[in-house]
Amino acid sequence: MHKTDVLIIGSGLAALATASALYPYKKVTIVTKGSIEQNNSVLAQGGIAAAVGNHDSWQEHAYDTLAAGSSHCSEETVHILTKEGISCVFDFIANGMEFDQFQNGSLHFGREGAHRLNRILHAGGDQTGALLFAFLKKRVLPHVEIIEHQIVHKLICDEQGCIGAIGEGRKGEIQAYLAEHVVVATGGIGGLYQYTSNHAYATGDGLMLAYDVGAELEDLEFIQFHPTLLREGNHAAGLVSEAVRGEGGVLVTEDGERFMKGIQPFEDLSSRDIVARAVFGQIQKGKDVFLDISEVEKFNKRFPTIKALCQKANIHLSKNRIPVIPGVHFLMGGIKVNEHGETTIPSLYAVGEAACTGVHGANRLASNSLLECIVFGRRVGCHILSKESRRVVEYKTNYQISRVEESLIMHQADIQAVMMQHVGIIRNGAGLRQAISWFDEELDSLDFSFTRSYPEQQRRRILMLRLGKLIASAAIHRCESRGAHYRSDFPQTSHQWEKQKVTHVLRGVLA
Ligand code: SIN
Repeated sequence: MHKTDVLIIGSGLAALATASALYPYKKVTIVTKGSIEQNNSVLAQGGIAAAVGNHDSWQEHAYDTLAAGSSHCSEETVHILTKEGISCVFDFIANGMEFDQFQNGSLHFGREGAHRLNRILHAGGDQTGALLFAFLKKRVLPHVEIIEHQIVHKLICDEQGCIGAIGEGRKGEIQAYLAEHVVVATGGIGGLYQYTSNHAYATGDGLMLAYDVGAELEDLEFIQFHPTLLREGNHAAGLVSEAVRGEGGVLVTEDGERFMKGIQPFEDLSSRDIVARAVFGQIQKGKDVFLDISEVEKFNKRFPTIKALCQKANIHLSKNRIPVIPGVHFLMGGIKVNEHGETTIPSLYAVGEAACTGVHGANRLASNSLLECIVFGRRVGCHILSKESRRVVEYKTNYQISRVEESLIMHQADIQAVMMQHVGIIRNGAGLRQAISWFDEELDSLDFSFTRSYPEQQRRRILMLRLGKLIASAAIHRCESRGAHYRSDFPQTSHQWEKQKVTHVLRGVLA
Protein backbone atom coordinates (compact mmCIF):
# COMPACT_ATOMS: atom_id res chain seq x y z
CA MET A 1 0.00 0.00 0.00
CA HIS A 2 1.43 3.32 -1.09
CA LYS A 3 0.07 6.40 0.71
CA THR A 4 0.31 9.94 -0.58
CA ASP A 5 -1.69 13.15 -0.36
CA VAL A 6 -2.25 13.71 -4.05
CA LEU A 7 -1.88 11.08 -6.74
CA ILE A 8 -1.41 12.47 -10.26
CA ILE A 9 -1.81 10.04 -13.15
CA GLY A 10 0.15 11.21 -16.21
CA SER A 11 3.30 13.25 -16.60
CA GLY A 12 2.73 15.98 -19.20
CA LEU A 13 2.65 19.72 -18.67
CA ALA A 14 -0.77 19.67 -16.96
CA ALA A 15 0.47 17.09 -14.44
CA LEU A 16 3.61 19.10 -13.67
CA ALA A 17 1.73 22.40 -13.42
CA THR A 18 -0.66 20.80 -10.91
CA ALA A 19 2.26 19.37 -8.93
CA SER A 20 3.98 22.74 -9.01
CA ALA A 21 1.09 24.38 -7.13
CA LEU A 22 0.91 21.54 -4.61
CA TYR A 23 4.37 20.38 -3.69
CA PRO A 24 5.29 22.93 -1.04
CA TYR A 25 2.29 21.81 1.03
CA LYS A 26 1.36 18.28 0.03
CA LYS A 27 3.03 14.99 -0.67
CA VAL A 28 2.60 14.49 -4.41
CA THR A 29 3.07 11.23 -6.29
CA ILE A 30 3.09 11.18 -10.08
CA VAL A 31 2.57 7.82 -11.75
CA THR A 32 3.09 7.54 -15.46
CA LYS A 33 2.74 4.82 -18.07
CA GLY A 34 6.12 5.27 -19.70
CA SER A 35 9.06 7.43 -18.79
CA ILE A 36 8.27 10.96 -17.63
CA GLU A 37 9.14 12.44 -21.04
CA GLN A 38 6.81 10.17 -22.97
CA ASN A 39 3.88 12.54 -23.33
CA ASN A 40 2.24 14.85 -25.85
CA SER A 41 3.39 18.10 -24.24
CA VAL A 42 7.00 17.59 -25.28
CA LEU A 43 5.86 17.21 -28.90
CA ALA A 44 4.05 20.57 -28.97
CA GLN A 45 5.80 22.82 -31.45
CA GLY A 46 4.00 26.04 -32.29
CA GLY A 47 3.79 27.75 -28.95
CA ILE A 48 1.62 29.06 -26.19
CA ALA A 49 -1.00 31.71 -26.84
CA ALA A 50 -1.29 34.49 -24.26
CA ALA A 51 -2.31 38.12 -24.45
CA VAL A 52 0.93 39.42 -22.97
CA GLY A 53 1.82 41.83 -25.79
CA ASN A 54 1.16 45.57 -25.48
CA HIS A 55 -1.04 45.43 -28.54
CA ASP A 56 -3.24 42.67 -27.09
CA SER A 57 -5.80 42.04 -24.33
CA TRP A 58 -7.42 39.01 -22.74
CA GLN A 59 -10.72 40.12 -24.27
CA GLU A 60 -9.24 39.92 -27.80
CA HIS A 61 -7.82 36.50 -27.04
CA ALA A 62 -11.16 35.36 -25.59
CA TYR A 63 -12.97 36.64 -28.68
CA ASP A 64 -10.77 34.53 -31.00
CA THR A 65 -11.09 31.48 -28.74
CA LEU A 66 -14.88 31.72 -28.70
CA ALA A 67 -15.07 32.30 -32.46
CA ALA A 68 -12.89 29.26 -33.23
CA GLY A 69 -14.95 27.18 -30.77
CA SER A 70 -18.08 27.54 -32.95
CA SER A 71 -20.50 28.72 -30.24
CA HIS A 72 -19.77 25.69 -28.10
CA CYS A 73 -17.27 27.07 -25.57
CA SER A 74 -18.03 27.90 -21.97
CA GLU A 75 -17.56 31.68 -21.82
CA GLU A 76 -16.77 31.46 -18.12
CA THR A 77 -13.82 29.11 -18.54
CA VAL A 78 -12.60 30.92 -21.67
CA HIS A 79 -12.41 34.12 -19.63
CA ILE A 80 -10.51 32.28 -16.90
CA LEU A 81 -8.09 30.84 -19.47
CA THR A 82 -7.35 34.08 -21.25
CA LYS A 83 -7.19 36.28 -18.12
CA GLU A 84 -5.22 33.96 -15.85
CA GLY A 85 -3.04 32.86 -18.76
CA ILE A 86 -1.35 36.25 -18.66
CA SER A 87 -0.21 35.92 -15.03
CA CYS A 88 0.80 32.29 -15.51
CA VAL A 89 3.04 33.19 -18.45
CA PHE A 90 4.54 36.17 -16.62
CA ASP A 91 5.21 33.92 -13.62
CA PHE A 92 7.09 31.51 -15.90
CA ILE A 93 9.10 34.34 -17.45
CA ALA A 94 9.91 35.81 -14.03
CA ASN A 95 11.17 32.42 -12.93
CA GLY A 96 13.49 31.96 -15.87
CA MET A 97 11.48 30.49 -18.75
CA GLU A 98 13.04 31.86 -21.93
CA PHE A 99 10.75 32.55 -24.85
CA ASP A 100 12.21 33.59 -28.20
CA GLN A 101 12.96 37.29 -28.52
CA PHE A 102 14.00 39.85 -31.09
CA GLN A 103 17.54 41.15 -30.86
CA ASN A 104 16.32 44.15 -28.85
CA GLY A 105 15.02 41.79 -26.16
CA SER A 106 11.31 42.15 -26.88
CA LEU A 107 9.28 38.97 -27.16
CA HIS A 108 8.67 37.56 -30.61
CA PHE A 109 4.99 36.75 -31.13
CA GLY A 110 4.17 34.21 -33.83
CA ARG A 111 0.88 33.80 -35.64
CA GLU A 112 -1.33 30.72 -35.99
CA GLY A 113 -4.72 29.85 -37.43
CA ALA A 114 -7.80 31.91 -36.46
CA HIS A 115 -5.85 34.38 -34.29
CA ARG A 116 -6.43 37.94 -35.50
CA LEU A 117 -3.16 39.03 -33.88
CA ASN A 118 0.35 37.71 -33.41
CA ARG A 119 0.20 36.38 -29.85
CA ILE A 120 1.99 33.04 -29.87
CA LEU A 121 5.02 32.87 -27.61
CA HIS A 122 7.49 30.22 -28.66
CA ALA A 123 10.77 28.81 -27.41
CA GLY A 124 13.74 27.29 -29.19
CA GLY A 125 11.95 28.08 -32.47
CA ASP A 126 9.51 25.18 -32.59
CA GLN A 127 10.46 23.40 -29.34
CA THR A 128 8.01 25.21 -27.10
CA GLY A 129 6.39 22.15 -25.51
CA ALA A 130 9.70 20.45 -24.80
CA LEU A 131 11.23 23.58 -23.25
CA LEU A 132 8.17 24.41 -21.12
CA PHE A 133 8.18 20.81 -19.94
CA ALA A 134 11.90 20.97 -19.11
CA PHE A 135 11.35 24.24 -17.22
CA LEU A 136 8.60 22.79 -15.02
CA LYS A 137 10.35 19.48 -14.61
CA LYS A 138 13.34 21.26 -13.12
CA ARG A 139 11.08 23.15 -10.74
CA VAL A 140 8.96 20.20 -9.66
CA LEU A 141 11.01 17.03 -9.87
CA PRO A 142 13.14 17.45 -6.76
CA HIS A 143 10.01 17.81 -4.65
CA VAL A 144 7.66 15.10 -5.85
CA GLU A 145 7.79 11.35 -6.13
CA ILE A 146 7.76 10.06 -9.71
CA ILE A 147 6.90 6.46 -10.47
CA GLU A 148 7.52 5.64 -14.12
CA HIS A 149 6.37 2.63 -16.16
CA GLN A 150 3.27 2.22 -14.07
CA ILE A 151 0.03 1.32 -15.82
CA VAL A 152 -3.04 2.35 -13.89
CA HIS A 153 -5.72 -0.32 -14.16
CA LYS A 154 -8.49 1.23 -12.16
CA LEU A 155 -9.43 3.97 -9.75
CA ILE A 156 -10.47 3.12 -6.23
CA CYS A 157 -13.55 4.81 -4.81
CA ASP A 158 -15.42 4.54 -1.53
CA GLU A 159 -18.50 6.37 -0.29
CA GLN A 160 -16.44 9.58 0.07
CA GLY A 161 -15.31 9.57 -3.54
CA CYS A 162 -12.05 8.67 -5.22
CA ILE A 163 -9.36 7.47 -2.84
CA GLY A 164 -6.66 6.10 -5.09
CA ALA A 165 -5.76 3.76 -7.90
CA ILE A 166 -4.42 0.34 -8.66
CA GLY A 167 -1.25 0.33 -10.74
CA GLU A 168 1.00 -2.25 -12.20
CA GLY A 169 4.76 -2.03 -12.66
CA ARG A 170 6.91 -3.32 -15.48
CA LYS A 171 7.35 -6.76 -14.00
CA GLY A 172 3.66 -7.22 -13.30
CA GLU A 173 3.85 -6.14 -9.66
CA ILE A 174 0.55 -4.71 -8.41
CA GLN A 175 0.53 -1.58 -6.31
CA ALA A 176 -2.41 0.11 -4.59
CA TYR A 177 -2.03 3.88 -4.21
CA LEU A 178 -4.13 5.63 -1.60
CA ALA A 179 -4.55 9.39 -1.74
CA GLU A 180 -6.77 12.17 -0.46
CA HIS A 181 -7.18 13.41 -4.04
CA VAL A 182 -6.56 11.89 -7.43
CA VAL A 183 -5.83 13.93 -10.57
CA VAL A 184 -6.19 12.42 -14.04
CA ALA A 185 -3.74 14.09 -16.44
CA THR A 186 -3.34 11.36 -19.02
CA GLY A 187 -3.67 13.45 -22.20
CA GLY A 188 -5.56 12.66 -25.38
CA ILE A 189 -6.66 9.89 -27.69
CA GLY A 190 -4.58 10.23 -30.87
CA GLY A 191 -3.30 6.67 -30.49
CA LEU A 192 -6.76 5.41 -31.46
CA TYR A 193 -6.22 6.73 -34.98
CA GLN A 194 -4.08 5.72 -37.92
CA TYR A 195 -2.75 9.25 -38.51
CA THR A 196 -1.90 11.32 -35.48
CA SER A 197 0.55 13.87 -34.15
CA ASN A 198 0.22 12.33 -30.67
CA HIS A 199 2.59 10.14 -28.75
CA ALA A 200 1.63 6.49 -29.30
CA TYR A 201 0.81 6.19 -25.58
CA ALA A 202 -2.06 8.65 -25.91
CA THR A 203 -4.91 6.14 -25.93
CA GLY A 204 -7.40 7.85 -23.64
CA ASP A 205 -6.64 5.66 -20.61
CA GLY A 206 -7.68 8.32 -18.11
CA LEU A 207 -11.05 8.79 -19.79
CA MET A 208 -11.89 5.12 -19.36
CA LEU A 209 -10.57 5.04 -15.77
CA ALA A 210 -12.91 7.91 -14.93
CA TYR A 211 -15.85 6.53 -16.93
CA ASP A 212 -15.56 3.19 -15.16
CA VAL A 213 -16.04 4.77 -11.74
CA GLY A 214 -19.06 6.74 -12.96
CA ALA A 215 -17.52 10.12 -13.93
CA GLU A 216 -19.23 11.92 -16.79
CA LEU A 217 -17.50 12.39 -20.14
CA GLU A 218 -18.58 14.98 -22.66
CA ASP A 219 -17.88 16.49 -26.09
CA LEU A 220 -16.15 13.30 -27.28
CA GLU A 221 -17.41 13.93 -30.81
CA PHE A 222 -15.18 16.99 -31.09
CA ILE A 223 -11.82 15.71 -32.26
CA GLN A 224 -9.41 18.14 -33.84
CA PHE A 225 -7.52 17.07 -36.94
CA HIS A 226 -4.33 18.99 -37.59
CA PRO A 227 -4.12 19.86 -41.29
CA THR A 228 -0.39 19.37 -41.64
CA LEU A 229 1.25 16.23 -40.36
CA LEU A 230 4.40 15.30 -42.20
CA ARG A 231 3.58 12.64 -44.81
CA GLU A 232 6.21 10.00 -45.27
CA GLY A 233 4.90 7.49 -47.80
CA ASN A 234 1.58 6.45 -46.31
CA HIS A 235 2.49 7.36 -42.73
CA ALA A 236 2.27 10.39 -40.53
CA ALA A 237 5.78 11.17 -39.34
CA GLY A 238 5.21 14.04 -36.90
CA LEU A 239 3.78 17.52 -36.78
CA VAL A 240 4.47 20.40 -39.15
CA SER A 241 3.46 23.34 -37.01
CA GLU A 242 0.80 25.81 -38.03
CA ALA A 243 3.40 28.42 -37.14
CA VAL A 244 5.01 27.62 -40.51
CA ARG A 245 1.93 29.07 -42.18
CA GLY A 246 2.14 31.94 -39.70
CA GLU A 247 5.59 32.72 -41.13
CA GLY A 248 4.42 32.64 -44.76
CA GLY A 249 4.00 28.94 -45.65
CA VAL A 250 1.07 28.16 -47.96
CA LEU A 251 -0.78 24.98 -48.85
CA VAL A 252 -0.59 23.82 -52.45
CA THR A 253 -1.60 20.76 -54.42
CA GLU A 254 0.93 18.81 -56.44
CA ASP A 255 0.06 21.09 -59.42
CA GLY A 256 0.80 24.19 -57.36
CA GLU A 257 -2.83 25.23 -56.84
CA ARG A 258 -3.27 27.37 -53.70
CA PHE A 259 -6.58 25.89 -52.66
CA MET A 260 -6.94 27.99 -49.48
CA LYS A 261 -6.75 31.22 -51.49
CA GLY A 262 -9.96 33.15 -51.17
CA ILE A 263 -11.21 31.16 -48.14
CA GLN A 264 -12.26 33.97 -45.83
CA PRO A 265 -11.26 35.55 -43.59
CA PHE A 266 -7.90 33.91 -42.96
CA GLU A 267 -7.09 31.79 -46.06
CA ASP A 268 -4.22 29.41 -45.10
CA LEU A 269 -4.56 30.55 -41.50
CA SER A 270 -8.25 29.75 -41.18
CA SER A 271 -9.32 27.73 -38.15
CA ARG A 272 -8.00 24.20 -38.04
CA ASP A 273 -11.28 22.44 -38.78
CA ILE A 274 -11.66 24.40 -42.03
CA VAL A 275 -8.08 23.86 -43.18
CA ALA A 276 -8.07 20.16 -42.24
CA ARG A 277 -11.25 19.53 -44.23
CA ALA A 278 -9.86 21.45 -47.22
CA VAL A 279 -6.65 19.37 -47.21
CA PHE A 280 -8.70 16.19 -46.81
CA GLY A 281 -10.92 17.29 -49.74
CA GLN A 282 -7.87 17.59 -52.02
CA ILE A 283 -6.62 14.17 -50.94
CA GLN A 284 -10.08 12.70 -51.62
CA LYS A 285 -9.75 14.07 -55.15
CA GLY A 286 -6.55 12.04 -55.48
CA LYS A 287 -4.16 14.97 -55.10
CA ASP A 288 -1.08 15.16 -52.94
CA VAL A 289 -0.85 18.24 -50.73
CA PHE A 290 2.31 20.15 -49.82
CA LEU A 291 3.28 23.04 -47.62
CA ASP A 292 5.18 25.49 -49.80
CA ILE A 293 7.83 27.16 -47.65
CA SER A 294 9.51 29.34 -50.29
CA GLU A 295 8.44 32.53 -48.50
CA VAL A 296 9.46 31.40 -44.99
CA GLU A 297 12.59 33.21 -43.85
CA LYS A 298 15.35 31.31 -42.01
CA PHE A 299 13.28 28.12 -41.94
CA ASN A 300 15.99 25.92 -40.41
CA LYS A 301 16.61 28.30 -37.52
CA ARG A 302 12.96 29.00 -36.79
CA PHE A 303 11.85 25.35 -37.15
CA PRO A 304 14.67 23.03 -36.07
CA THR A 305 12.31 20.24 -34.99
CA ILE A 306 10.52 20.17 -38.34
CA LYS A 307 13.84 20.32 -40.15
CA ALA A 308 15.00 17.25 -38.20
CA LEU A 309 11.73 15.40 -38.86
CA CYS A 310 12.10 16.11 -42.59
CA GLN A 311 15.70 14.95 -42.59
CA LYS A 312 14.70 11.72 -40.86
CA ALA A 313 11.99 11.16 -43.47
CA ASN A 314 14.44 11.92 -46.28
CA ILE A 315 12.54 14.99 -47.42
CA HIS A 316 14.78 17.66 -48.93
CA LEU A 317 13.88 21.14 -47.75
CA SER A 318 15.83 22.67 -50.63
CA LYS A 319 12.77 21.83 -52.76
CA ASN A 320 10.70 24.15 -50.52
CA ARG A 321 7.82 21.66 -50.42
CA ILE A 322 6.86 19.55 -47.43
CA PRO A 323 4.35 16.72 -48.09
CA VAL A 324 1.46 16.84 -45.59
CA ILE A 325 -1.67 14.95 -44.53
CA PRO A 326 -4.22 15.71 -41.82
CA GLY A 327 -4.34 13.59 -38.66
CA VAL A 328 -5.75 13.54 -35.15
CA HIS A 329 -4.20 16.16 -32.94
CA PHE A 330 -6.42 17.04 -29.99
CA LEU A 331 -9.57 15.99 -28.15
CA MET A 332 -11.71 19.00 -27.23
CA GLY A 333 -13.94 16.83 -25.02
CA GLY A 334 -12.96 14.55 -22.19
CA ILE A 335 -13.77 14.09 -18.53
CA LYS A 336 -16.35 16.70 -17.58
CA VAL A 337 -14.93 19.14 -15.02
CA ASN A 338 -15.90 22.45 -13.46
CA GLU A 339 -13.69 25.56 -13.38
CA HIS A 340 -11.58 23.99 -10.61
CA GLY A 341 -11.00 20.75 -12.47
CA GLU A 342 -13.40 18.77 -10.27
CA THR A 343 -15.06 15.84 -12.04
CA THR A 344 -18.51 14.56 -11.12
CA ILE A 345 -16.85 12.14 -8.63
CA PRO A 346 -15.74 13.73 -5.33
CA SER A 347 -11.96 14.04 -4.91
CA LEU A 348 -11.35 13.05 -8.53
CA TYR A 349 -9.93 15.85 -10.67
CA ALA A 350 -8.97 15.99 -14.34
CA VAL A 351 -6.69 18.45 -16.10
CA GLY A 352 -5.15 19.12 -19.51
CA GLU A 353 -6.35 17.31 -22.60
CA ALA A 354 -8.01 14.53 -20.57
CA ALA A 355 -10.39 17.12 -19.09
CA CYS A 356 -13.26 18.94 -20.72
CA THR A 357 -13.35 22.43 -19.21
CA GLY A 358 -15.32 23.85 -22.14
CA VAL A 359 -12.52 26.23 -23.15
CA HIS A 360 -12.08 24.68 -26.59
CA GLY A 361 -15.72 24.31 -27.57
CA ALA A 362 -16.08 22.46 -30.86
CA ASN A 363 -12.67 23.46 -32.18
CA ARG A 364 -9.61 24.50 -30.20
CA LEU A 365 -7.85 27.73 -31.07
CA ALA A 366 -4.20 27.10 -31.94
CA SER A 367 -1.73 27.18 -29.04
CA ASN A 368 -4.39 27.31 -26.35
CA SER A 369 -3.61 23.79 -25.15
CA LEU A 370 -0.29 24.48 -23.39
CA LEU A 371 -1.96 27.52 -21.85
CA GLU A 372 -4.82 25.34 -20.61
CA CYS A 373 -2.30 23.01 -18.95
CA ILE A 374 -0.64 25.74 -16.93
CA VAL A 375 -3.77 27.74 -16.07
CA PHE A 376 -5.94 24.81 -15.04
CA GLY A 377 -3.02 22.90 -13.53
CA ARG A 378 -2.51 25.80 -11.14
CA ARG A 379 -6.27 25.96 -10.48
CA VAL A 380 -6.54 22.26 -9.69
CA GLY A 381 -3.55 22.51 -7.34
CA CYS A 382 -4.96 25.55 -5.55
CA HIS A 383 -8.39 24.01 -5.24
CA ILE A 384 -6.98 20.89 -3.64
CA LEU A 385 -5.07 23.09 -1.20
CA SER A 386 -8.31 24.82 -0.24
CA LYS A 387 -9.87 21.49 0.78
CA GLU A 388 -9.63 20.09 4.27
CA SER A 389 -7.46 17.03 4.59
CA ARG A 390 -9.49 13.91 4.83
CA ARG A 391 -8.68 10.53 6.27
CA VAL A 392 -8.28 7.84 3.70
CA VAL A 393 -9.31 4.49 5.04
CA GLU A 394 -7.33 1.33 4.47
CA TYR A 395 -8.06 -0.49 1.28
CA LYS A 396 -7.54 -4.17 0.84
CA THR A 397 -6.88 -5.47 -2.62
CA ASN A 398 -6.84 -8.94 -4.02
CA TYR A 399 -6.32 -7.52 -7.46
CA GLN A 400 -4.04 -9.70 -9.50
CA ILE A 401 -2.65 -9.40 -12.96
CA SER A 402 0.00 -11.38 -14.64
CA ARG A 403 1.44 -9.39 -17.45
CA VAL A 404 4.45 -10.50 -19.30
CA GLU A 405 6.69 -7.53 -19.92
CA GLU A 406 5.87 -6.23 -23.38
CA SER A 407 5.75 -3.10 -25.45
CA LEU A 408 3.04 -0.62 -24.62
CA ILE A 409 2.96 0.76 -28.15
CA MET A 410 -0.33 -0.37 -29.52
CA HIS A 411 -0.38 -1.90 -32.95
CA GLN A 412 -4.13 -2.11 -33.12
CA ALA A 413 -4.17 -1.24 -36.82
CA ASP A 414 -7.72 -2.45 -37.37
CA ILE A 415 -9.14 -0.17 -34.65
CA GLN A 416 -7.04 2.76 -35.88
CA ALA A 417 -8.24 2.23 -39.48
CA VAL A 418 -11.93 2.02 -38.45
CA MET A 419 -11.60 5.21 -36.40
CA MET A 420 -9.92 7.02 -39.29
CA GLN A 421 -12.43 5.85 -41.87
CA HIS A 422 -15.72 6.12 -39.99
CA VAL A 423 -15.06 8.42 -37.03
CA GLY A 424 -12.69 10.73 -38.90
CA ILE A 425 -12.65 14.23 -40.39
CA ILE A 426 -15.96 13.68 -42.16
CA ARG A 427 -18.50 11.32 -40.63
CA ASN A 428 -22.00 10.15 -41.47
CA GLY A 429 -24.69 8.09 -39.77
CA ALA A 430 -24.14 4.97 -41.89
CA GLY A 431 -20.38 4.91 -41.27
CA LEU A 432 -20.77 5.60 -37.56
CA ARG A 433 -23.33 2.79 -37.25
CA GLN A 434 -20.95 0.47 -39.07
CA ALA A 435 -18.15 1.42 -36.67
CA ILE A 436 -20.37 0.86 -33.61
CA SER A 437 -21.45 -2.60 -34.86
CA TRP A 438 -17.84 -3.50 -35.49
CA PHE A 439 -16.82 -2.40 -31.98
CA ASP A 440 -19.69 -4.48 -30.57
CA GLU A 441 -18.68 -7.58 -32.51
CA GLU A 442 -15.06 -7.22 -31.46
CA LEU A 443 -15.99 -6.67 -27.83
CA ASP A 444 -18.38 -9.64 -27.88
CA SER A 445 -15.61 -11.84 -29.19
CA LEU A 446 -13.38 -11.01 -26.22
CA ASP A 447 -13.71 -12.72 -22.90
CA PHE A 448 -13.97 -10.02 -20.23
CA SER A 449 -13.70 -12.55 -17.44
CA PHE A 450 -9.97 -12.73 -17.86
CA THR A 451 -9.37 -8.99 -17.83
CA ARG A 452 -7.39 -9.44 -14.63
CA SER A 453 -4.95 -11.85 -16.02
CA TYR A 454 -4.02 -11.60 -19.61
CA PRO A 455 -1.58 -9.92 -21.91
CA GLU A 456 -1.43 -6.15 -21.80
CA GLN A 457 -2.10 -5.87 -25.54
CA GLN A 458 -5.44 -7.61 -25.02
CA ARG A 459 -6.42 -5.43 -22.10
CA ARG A 460 -5.56 -2.33 -24.06
CA ARG A 461 -7.45 -3.57 -27.08
CA ILE A 462 -10.57 -3.72 -24.93
CA LEU A 463 -9.89 -0.19 -23.65
CA MET A 464 -9.50 1.17 -27.19
CA LEU A 465 -12.59 -0.64 -28.49
CA ARG A 466 -14.69 0.67 -25.61
CA LEU A 467 -13.46 4.24 -26.03
CA GLY A 468 -13.88 4.04 -29.82
CA LYS A 469 -17.47 2.99 -29.27
CA LEU A 470 -18.09 5.89 -26.90
CA ILE A 471 -16.65 8.40 -29.38
CA ALA A 472 -18.65 6.98 -32.29
CA SER A 473 -21.79 7.00 -30.12
CA ALA A 474 -21.30 10.66 -29.24
CA ALA A 475 -20.74 11.48 -32.92
CA ILE A 476 -23.85 9.63 -34.10
CA HIS A 477 -25.93 11.38 -31.49
CA ARG A 478 -25.01 14.90 -32.62
CA CYS A 479 -27.07 15.35 -35.79
CA GLU A 480 -25.43 18.55 -37.01
CA SER A 481 -22.01 19.84 -38.08
CA ARG A 482 -20.15 22.14 -35.73
CA GLY A 483 -16.44 22.92 -35.53
CA ALA A 484 -14.41 19.74 -35.83
CA HIS A 485 -17.50 17.50 -35.90
CA TYR A 486 -18.57 17.38 -39.54
CA ARG A 487 -21.45 15.13 -40.57
CA SER A 488 -21.91 14.83 -44.34
CA ASP A 489 -25.52 13.77 -43.69
CA PHE A 490 -26.12 16.85 -41.48
CA PRO A 491 -23.81 19.47 -43.01
CA GLN A 492 -25.47 22.47 -41.36
CA THR A 493 -24.88 23.91 -37.91
CA SER A 494 -28.15 23.74 -36.00
CA HIS A 495 -29.32 26.31 -33.43
CA GLN A 496 -31.09 23.51 -31.60
CA TRP A 497 -27.74 21.93 -30.85
CA GLU A 498 -26.03 25.10 -29.68
CA LYS A 499 -24.35 24.48 -26.29
CA GLN A 500 -26.04 21.05 -26.11
CA LYS A 501 -23.82 18.37 -24.63
CA VAL A 502 -23.76 14.70 -25.43
CA THR A 503 -23.12 13.51 -21.90
CA HIS A 504 -25.83 11.33 -20.40
CA VAL A 505 -26.28 9.16 -23.47
CA LEU A 506 -22.75 7.90 -23.00
CA ARG A 507 -23.58 6.33 -19.66
CA GLY A 508 -25.73 3.57 -21.18
CA VAL A 509 -23.44 2.86 -24.12
CA LEU A 510 -21.08 0.32 -22.57
CA ALA A 511 -22.12 -2.81 -20.76
C1 SIN B 1 1.09 23.56 -34.04
O1 SIN B 1 2.22 23.91 -33.74
O2 SIN B 1 0.62 23.63 -35.18
C2 SIN B 1 0.23 22.98 -32.98
C3 SIN B 1 -0.05 23.97 -31.94
C4 SIN B 1 -1.32 23.59 -31.24
O3 SIN B 1 -1.69 22.42 -31.23
O4 SIN B 1 -1.97 24.46 -30.72
